[in-house]
Amino acid sequence: MKHRILIVDDEKNTRDGLLWGLEGKNNEILAVAGGSEALDIVRAGDVHLMITDLKMPEMDGLELLKAVRDESPSTEAIILTGHGTVETAVEAIKLGAFDYLMKPVNLDELGLLVERVLMQRDLKDENAALREQLEERHGFASIVGHSAKMEAVYKQVRQVAPTRASVLLTGESGTGKELVAAAIHYNSPRKRKRFIKLNCGALTTTLLESELFGHEAGSFTDARKQKIGRFELADEGTLFLDEITETAPEFQVRLLRVLQEQEFERVGGTQTVRVDVRVIAATNRDVESAVRDGRFREDLYYRLNVVRIEIPPLRERRDDIPLLVHAFLEEFCRENGKPLLKIAPKAMTMLCEYDWPGNVRQLRNAIEGMVVLAQGREIGARNLPEEIRAEASSRRTLLLRVGATLAEMEKEMIRATLEETKGNRAAAARILGLGRKTLYRKIEEYGLSADEEG
Ligand SMILES: Nc1ncnc2c1ncn2[C@@H]1O[C@H](COP(=O)(O)OP(=O)(O)OP(=O)(O)O)[C@@H](O)[C@H]1O
Ligand SMILES: [Mg+2]
Repeated sequence: MKHRILIVDDEKNTRDGLLWGLEGKNNEILAVAGGSEALDIVRAGDVHLMITDLKMPEMDGLELLKAVRDESPSTEAIILTGHGTVETAVEAIKLGAFDYLMKPVNLDELGLLVERVLMQRDLKDENAALREQLEERHGFASIVGHSAKMEAVYKQVRQVAPTRASVLLTGESGTGKELVAAAIHYNSPRKRKRFIKLNCGALTTTLLESELFGHEAGSFTDARKQKIGRFELADEGTLFLDEITETAPEFQVRLLRVLQEQEFERVGGTQTVRVDVRVIAATNRDVESAVRDGRFREDLYYRLNVVRIEIPPLRERRDDIPLLVHAFLEEFCRENGKPLLKIAPKAMTMLCEYDWPGNVRQLRNAIEGMVVLAQGREIGARNLPEEIRAEASSRRTLLLRVGATLAEMEKEMIRATLEETKGNRAAAARILGLGRKTLYRKIEEYGLSADEEG
């Protein structure tokens, strides 16, 4: 990357010397004689590094440094100082200058210093860009859906994010609780610190405690080294505890204490560790009935349920389905190097009418599967997963004209059922609640066997 370097010194000889010394490294180098000119250039933009003298007639280097910090905080500075001004140079460092060099300047030394400054700056830029990407990926932008119910969720997220209140996320499996937890973290003042997750449902109490609180070496058989727990890793950040209702009562007691006191000891340790952690917990179970049944401690429930956000199941916000379908189609077509597939209107209708017991996760997996298997350029009704087609056909209805005889109705019903079972008479008899022989007789009687073959 090409950098812009600005040299500020009232003595022409020094300017020329520095220009000459820094030349040839593919950087753009400018030199000016005083502070006000320098500020004009900084304001005009993108000076990566300023090298300035301290003693100058019109505006001294310290003043210039302050002004530059205000105008362009990302501009780094190196201070050049004579014998009488070393103390001022130290002050400049406190103001944020990168380093200082004694005059007369050793050009090799300056060259190395400049390289170091610019390298660190590039790293900072890179970090900032990565962090922005991260925040974008996990913020609201990652959550698809504009249904009224989801808008209500976003509103709650915006309200709680700036606080450190505990949040309890509830909702069926696959509704997006983890996504919402991340959105709370990445929209909070804690976003620069870590978002640490732990699925509590999968672990025994012993493992859970050592995962969360860490352990000292030798505290139990497998603990050879000291381990830092997730509570400590999440210090000043957010800890997301998933499947919280699946934990054992003795663990719940311990967790409650830590949440109240914000301090704990590592397993097998005596030293108290203080942390500042925001906790977001989630469960896809009915938490109130878990409390009633005594499986989940009431005091812990109150401690976690300071703010409650309920993520609605997908079938209660069907207007989000087309948006999600398109978002996932795009994602998986890109991932699989396929051109963006279309979806037939009939297929979209079936996707919108399906009940989605596995919610958004199930929809996402269904789209991935269809994209991977797709042959043509369009996904049609017959490419949908079996469970979706089955549900759609189970909703098929027969329209009967008032004025028809019962025999006519019976005939139509038998015909439709045989169609549905693809001619399987035993299955049709079961659905209709008829004995097999009775059904055969009626098929003969109504002349349906011919249809069935065809
Ligand atoms: N609104 C949404 N927009 C985009 N993707 C979503 C949305 N909701 C959920 N997903 C995706 O669906 C999958 C399941 O979401 P998530 O893991 O957050 O569900 P969950 O509520 O935590 O489920 P569980 O209770 O099973 O842990 C993830 O891949 C997630 O990215
Ligand atoms: Mg989850």
